[in-house]
Formats: sequence, structure tokens, C-alpha cells
Amino acid sequence: MKFKSKAHANIALIKYWGKEDEELIIPKNNSLSLTLDALYTETEVEFIDSKDDIFYLDDELQDEKHTLKISKFIDLFRKKSNNHDRVLVKSYNHVPTAAGLASSASGFSALAVALNKLFRLNLDKTELTRYARKGSGSASRSIFGGFVEWEKGYDDYTSHAKKIDDADWDIAMIILVLNDSKKDISSREAMKKTIETSPLYRGFTESSAEDIKNIKEAIKNKDFKKMGEIAEHNAMKMHATMLSSNPPIMYFKPDSIRAIEKIKQLRKDGFEVYYTMDAGPNVKILCRDSQIENIVKKLKKDFDSKQIIISKVGNDANVREI
Ligand code: DP6
Repeated sequence: MKFKSKAHANIALIKYWGKEDEELIIPKNNSLSLTLDALYTETEVEFIDSKDDIFYLDDELQDEKHTLKISKFIDLFRKKSNNHDRVLVKSYNHVPTAAGLASSASGFSALAVALNKLFRLNLDKTELTRYARKGSGSASRSIFGGFVEWEKGYDDYTSHAKKIDDADWDIAMIILVLNDSKKDISSREAMKKTIETSPLYRGFTESSAEDIKNIKEAIKNKDFKKMGEIAEHNAMKMHATMLSSNPPIMYFKPDSIRAIEKIKQLRKDGFEVYYTMDAGPNVKILCRDSQIENIVKKLKKDFDSKQIIISKVGNDANVREI
């Protein structure tokens, strides 16, 4: 028996930045994301007669450290099913360029839905968001397509993701790839340092609760402007909080600022464009699908076409037998 799954990356409009429980990955605040069609992971799993799990990423055999991370995740499924067989995992990250966008979100989400089949667990999607969460927090949101909220909850059971809206109302995202070198500090490490040292952290979590409430209202009303403005503000609050850590954590590069200035100009020119950034220098543009062609034309004046990834809205993660 062999299964192949597919899960898409997601970009948070309201950010997850900080854990209440590091072991179970329970976050400090709710987050909300858009699932992206263009960026995804495909994962094949099968049982093998071996002492250890074996993990290939993009056809490269992974070392002990990386395999151990995957093995710990598979242990959750072994425990639940009481089947202690070892697994061969082959994952492929589909990212249009070497963008440094290879996401743990699509990776753990794809692995969760594949292992659910392999171990014959029949977990439903909500339950799968809890499993994916324990691989990487943001992976909980990649189980679903469209707009997805990860409810922080207060324990393993209550911390899960749910679909808010299909996002099938003229929405798309453009990713501006601005730097593909490896990041100085991982998001896992950076969020921990932020909680420990930033005097502004409380402000971030408190205002995120407001942002979640307001953005859900905007989504419900299909109010693109309000949604974009809230997302932009939320992202910058996260970065301001990081910047106020000691030592400061900065993911901006000069090109990130250049991109933001360009987006502001595009907005003045009448395009519905809003920016967001995560734990890296790339800038993501929330925009109207119907305006993509003209926006890209304008972006190409300042950026190389290889730096521009266009994405529609992605669907739920899926799996099939192969
Ligand atoms: C800035 O989900 O990668 O992208 O749970 O430690 O694996 P871990 O962190 P991860 O953090 C994502 C942070 C973010 C914001 C977001 O996606 O909500």
C-alpha cells in the first residue's frame, strides 16, 4: 500500500507568532490565513522493513537530524494506531523558483493526510489540523483551502483550524521573491525570543484578537479593502514586535522596503493591493485576481519576472492511493 498526498502552503493575514505550549504547539493567539494554489508539497508514504524511518526531500536522502523530526511526527500516528512499522517518506516541494519558500506548513500538512491513510486512522479534517499543528503550527491551516482560522484553544483538543470562507471572490496573491539565502534565525527560535524579550509582545497578542474579529467580519462582507488594511497592519505589528526584541530580530532587507513602497504606489494608482511579510524578506501581495495581469506588468518594471510568483487560492489537502 502506497499513498500520495498534496497540501498547499498558506500565508497568514493575521499572524501566529508565539506559543503558549511549546511541546503541543498551542499558540498565544488565533491566526487566519489564505491557502495558496501555486505553492505545495506532494508526499508519498509506504511501510518499509527497516529499523528506522527513511526520509527523502526532493529526491535527496535526509540526514539523521531531519529524519528524526519526521520520525517524531510519525510516532503520533504509530501511537494512535498501535502500529509500530517504519515508514518511507518521499516529499517534493513544488515552488516555482528556488525561493526559500519551501514551507513546513505544506510539508507537515501533506504528511499528516498521507499518514492518516497509511495507518488507516480515518481522522476527520479537523482532527488532522491538530496532528499537522504538532509538526509545525502553521501546518494546521494547510489542511483546508480558502481562508482558514487556527483557533488557539487551550489544550491539544481545542487548538485546531477551521475553514472560514472558500475565498472564491476575486482574490489572489503575488509573491515577490526578494532573497533566497537561508534565514539567520528560524521562526521557531525567533518567536520564542520575541516572547522572552519584547516589551511590546502583549500589545501584539491583544490587538491580534481585535484583528481576528474584524477581519472575519470583513471576509463575511467581502470587504476587500478592510481585509487588506487589517492584514497589512497586523503583519507590521508582528514585525515591530520582533524588532523590539533584544537583540532585535529583523527580516527586512532593502528590497523588502522597496517592494512595500512599490505596492503603496500601485495602490495610489488604483490597484487593490496590500502587503504582508513573514519570517523572511519576501513580500506577499494580497490582490484581486482580475487585476493580476496589470499589476504584474507594473511590477516587472522594478522586479525580474523570475521574482514574481502568481497564485490563485488553494484547495483542501488531499490524498490518494498510488
Ligand atoms: C511568521 O508555523 O513555521 O509564518 O510552529 O514553530 O513550526 P512553528 O512555526 P511556524 O511559524 C509561522 C510564522 C509565520 C506566521 C504564520 O504563518 O502565521
